[in-house]
Formats: sequence, C-alpha cells, structure tokens
Amino acid sequence: MRAALLVVMMFGLTAGSVGAQTSLETPPVGTLAQIMRGIYFPNSNIIFDTQMQDPDAEPEKNATGGTVSSTFAGIYTGWPVVENAALVLAEGASLINKPGRLCENGRMAPVQRYDWLKYSREMTDVGWAIYQAALEKDQEAVGELTNDLAQACDNCHRVYRSNAQGASLRCLGSGIILP
Ligand code: HEC
Repeated sequence: MRAALLVVMMFGLTAGSVGAQTSLETPPVGTLAQIMRGIYFPNSNIIFDTQMQDPDAEPEKNATGGTVSSTFAGIYTGWPVVENAALVLAEGASLINKPGRLCENGRMAPVQRYDWLKYSREMTDVGWAIYQAALEKDQEAVGELTNDLAQACDNCHRVYRSNAQGASLRCLGSGIILP
C-alpha cells in the first residue's frame, strides 16, 4: 500500500514537471531589437513621462470614433500605469534572456555571459524599485529612479549595442574584433 502510494506520488510528480516544462519553455519569436522596441522602449517612456507629468492628473478626454487604442486609452490610468510599466521592465529580463534569442543581425544574443546577465538583472532591480515608488505614488522618487533606469539601459547598450560598432557587430560585446 505504501509502495503503491509512493509510485502514484512519483508518477504524479513526473507528469507534473513535464507539463510545467512544456508550457513554460516556449521558443523565442521576435528578435532582441523587436523585444526592445515593443517592450523596453514604450514602457520606459511611460516611466520617463512621470518626470514631467503627475500620473494622478485628470486624464484628457478621449475623442470618440478614434482608433481602438485612443478609444480605450482612458481605461487604465494614473499610478497603476506606472506600476505596470515598471513590472514589465522588471520581468523583461526573462524575455531578453530566453535561450536561442537572436539579435537582428542573426547573432545569438549573448544570454549566457556573466556581464549580460548582470545588466539584465539591473533592469529587474530598477524596475522593482520603481514599482515600489509607484505604489507609494512618490513622483519625486520615481523621477530620481529614472536616472538609474536610463543608466541600466545604457550600461548594456554601450557594450552590446554600441553605436560605434556597425549593426553587424552588435551582440558581440566590445573588444571583440571580427576576423
Ligand atoms: C542586457 C542588455 C540590454 C539592456 C538592459 C537594454 N538593452 Fe536595448 N538593446 C540591447 C541590444 C544588444 C540591442 C540591439 C538588438 C539587435 O540588434 O537585435 C538593443 C536595442 C535596443 C533598441 C532598438 C533600437 C536600435 O538601436 O536598434 C531600443 C529602442 C532599445 N534597445 C531600448 C532599450 C531601453 C529603453 C532599455 C532600458 C529600459 C534597454 N534597451 C535595455 C541590449 C540591451
């Protein structure tokens, strides 16, 4: 009886973990640049906006008959927009670090490198810190943290996206010279 229970438990565990693995590990779909443009760029801009604009300010009235985005622009407003943007930036690390992620030039994003993981971790840390400040509705603190945010983007960009390098050298890191 005991042995039978154990077998059931073991089987259950194995089946569960296989299920979890297949549902969680989806292959990357977009390039790194697309993830940057689709996720990091718009969400960091929402956070940069809080330097100029109080998220608690009355939202502008939406024009009727516009696009879907303009019609629904007033549904989620205020500090929760900043909170959500900060969380997406924090979670974005797991997207950019997906094994097999390609850069636009076809190179593998260097997601196994120590410094890359350190830079992406900084995004998670600063995203989390901004989230905490947004929960407190602390515009000044969010404003100060935007410096750390810009710095976190730049720390990685200056090594892996440097404008001094041609696009073909992106994702290689600095100091590596192609033959
Ligand atoms: C861990 C490294 C890393 C971090 C952190 C990072 N980026 Fe990037 N970013 C890159 C790389 C590498 C590319 C080039 C991607 C490619 O060529 O496919 C890139 C490309 C981009 C692009 C596309 C434009 C272009 O020049 O091709 C934008 C926009 C961008 N990043 C914005 C951001 C913003 C905003 C942040 C911070 C909120 C950020 N990135 C954080 C590595 C990073």
